[in-house]
Parts: sequence; structure tokens; C-alpha cells
Amino acid sequence: MKRLAVIGIGRMGSRHARNVVKGVVKNALLTAVCDTDKAKVGVFCATYGSVKGYTDYKKLIDEEKLDGVIIATPHTSHIEIAKYCVERDVNVLVEKPISVTTKEAEELTDLLDKKREVFAAMMFNQRTNRMYLKAKELISDGSIGEIQRVNFIVTDWYRTQFYYNMGGWRASWSGEGGGTLINQCVHQLDVLQWLIGMPQKVEAFCKCVGRDITTENDVTAILRYRDFDCVFTASTHELPGTNRLEIAGTKGKIVIEKFKMTYYINGMSESEVNARALKDYGNKEDKKTVKRRCSYGFLRMLYDAIYGQQARIINNFVDALQTNRKDILIAKAEEGVNSLALINAMNMSSWLERAVDMPIDKDLYSSLLSEKIAGEQL
Ligand SMILES: NC(=O)c1ccc[n+]([C@@H]2O[C@H](COP(=O)([O-])OP(=O)(O)OC[C@H]3O[C@@H](n4cnc5c(N)ncnc54)[C@H](O)[C@@H]3O)[C@@H](O)[C@H]2O)c1
Repeated sequence: MKRLAVIGIGRMGSRHARNVVKGVVKNALLTAVCDTDKAKVGVFCATYGSVKGYTDYKKLIDEEKLDGVIIATPHTSHIEIAKYCVERDVNVLVEKPISVTTKEAEELTDLLDKKREVFAAMMFNQRTNRMYLKAKELISDGSIGEIQRVNFIVTDWYRTQFYYNMGGWRASWSGEGGGTLINQCVHQLDVLQWLIGMPQKVEAFCKCVGRDITTENDVTAILRYRDFDCVFTASTHELPGTNRLEIAGTKGKIVIEKFKMTYYINGMSESEVNARALKDYGNKEDKKTVKRRCSYGFLRMLYDAIYGQQARIINNFVDALQTNRKDILIAKAEEGVNSLALINAMNMSSWLERAVDMPIDKDLYSSLLSEKIAGEQL
């Protein structure tokens, strides 16, 4: 049994903690929880008597003998807490995003470079979605050929003014280091970079539509890769929203919309069709295109609705610890830097009103963010 603790038992952390206590996470024991809010700790420990409560994460790490810690605090504290754990050889599973700036995130990745025995993972639960897993397979094994075009529309994370008025750290530069991109889209941007890699250049247009917040809730970005472009559109104010990923290649196409995936594998690559064609348009080779479907899966949907997709990542983290196999981790902490780099690049491009080269100038981003924070009136 691996002894776990959860730091930050708000909305998400309390769910993680309950999943461990209730045995949804196999081979794990919830030893303790920690939250700066004493009342939350009191309620949790009163409900689950065997769990110890702390209000200071340093005391928790110093006093408990832990195999792993789940960090589910607001974004700005992820790195500080993760570094404290890693320095003391405690394995960590960090909620998304890894941090607010890539400059800060690299403090953790540099440390992990020295502490190679420590397991550090990211909560990128959307990587467990089997449609994305299928897409990764189809891209990696060459089934759809070379990528030619990517479009990702993510406008289904609807958030009301009521949500923002609940206050706290959300949707402010000082509280969470951004808006829609860093809070919601970090998941899709992780999936995107996991599937198609990182672009060479990013140009983005970020704005706030229809809400009284200081950060963006509406984004259109163009990610320029060496051989193709990707258009990424996201917002949290549209009804009804869309969640659609299209990846078109020289030999086929992947379309994922919400819970359904359709993929097409052409009988012949487009360049061959073009070379052989003896007419001006239309294509009889279309008939040789194989069309297949894949779905989220009813039982998966049910499990994820009850326990949260995140339970899959916690189980994977514990499996990796149990078997002492880092290679089976679904997302290593170091991989959290890429989605954050995309987010920072989009914000920076929008502020500077120009395209930015990747990797971005980390120091410039940090100083621009400090200016945003200084100018923010909440
Ligand atoms: N993976 C997902 O799908 C998913 C979904 C929602 C939230 N999240 C992430 O989970 C994290 C928490 O989000 P939330 O919605 O639960 O927020 P929340 O505000 O409900 O909870 C955060 C908790 O952390 C506590 N806290 C703050 N600073 C602390 C510190 N230094 N030490 C101990 N406790 C501290 C707060 O008191 C609060 O109870 C964020 O990183 C968020 O992005 C992930």
C-alpha cells in the first residue's frame, strides 16, 4: 500500500482525497490531508476519521512518512509545494497547470533532473480519453500520413459571471496567472502538443467577451509548424459550445467531436491521386477511403462521471510507484512545461500584438505578467 496525502482539499483536491479513501484508487491509503483553510480540514477529518489533518504543507511533509503527494492548490503555489516535496524525496502528482510561467516551471524540472529517483507526474487526465489515444496511434504509426492541417475548437467550457463572482483566485493575473487558457484549455493544449508536437511560432488574439474579469475568456490562435498550421479557437462564453478536433493528413483524417471520433484512411495518398488524375476535379479514389468510428465508451463515461477522469491518473501514479516504473506514467511533470509554454506564448503574442517565436523569451514573459498583475484592479 502506498501512503498518500492531498494538499489543497477544495473542489478538486477533496475529490481526489475521497477517491483514495474510498478505494477507487487501488493499493493506496490516504494518510493525511492539508489545507490552509482549517474548517475544510476539520470537516474532512471528521468525516474520515483515520485521516490526519494539517494546515501547513511543510509540517505535513516533514512529519508524515509519505510515498506520494497530490498537489491540488491554486496554480501559483504548485511549484513552491512541488519543489519542497521533491527536495525531500517525496513523489508528487501535480494538478494542472504545472505553474504559471515556464521560467518558474523550469525550477522544478531542473530540480527533477538532479533528483532522478523521485517520481513526478502531471494531472493530465484527458490523455486517458481513448479517442485521443486512438488519434495518437494513428498519427504515430503513419496511418494518416503527414499532417497537413489541424483545427481545434474548444468552446464548451461555459462559465457564467456567477462562477467568476464566487471570487477566490480564478480568472485573474495575480490569482491564477490567466483565464480560460491556463484554467480550462491547458488540458486541450496538452493533448494537442502530445499529439502533434510543439509549433515554431504562435500568433494569438485574446480578449474578454461578456464577463467582468481581467483575463481572457476568448482566444483565436494560429500555431505555425514547419509543414502545417493549426488554428486553435477557445472560449468560455459561447452557447451551445463546440469541442472539435480535426487533424488532416496526406493519407487520412481524424475528426473528434465531443464523445465521438471518426477517422478516414485513404486508399491512396493525395499526391498519388493528384499525379494519376486524368480529370480536372472529383475523385473516384474517395470510394476507397475507409471510414471508422471510435467513441468515448459508455462504461468509461459512466466511471468518469462517477469518480472523475482524474481517478485514472491517480491510479496510474500509484501503479508507477508500486512497480517502480517511471516509464508507465501517463504524463511526467516535465511534460507540463509544453502546454504552459503554449499558454504563455498565446498571452504574450496577444499583449505584444505580434507573432512570437517558440520557445518564448521566458524573462520577457515573466516581466510582462508582473506588469499585468501590477495594473490589475480586482
Ligand atoms: N484536472 C482537472 O480536471 C481539474 C479540475 C478542476 C480543478 N483542477 C485544478 O485543481 C487545482 C485546485 O482547483 P480547485 O478548483 O479545487 O480550487 P479550490 O479553490 O476549490 O481549492 C484549492 C484549495 O487549496 C487550498 N490552498 C490554497 N493554498 C494552499 C496552500 N499553500 N497549502 C494548502 N492548501 C492551500 C485552498 O484553501 C483551497 O481549499 C487547480 O490547480 C485547478 O486548476 C483540475
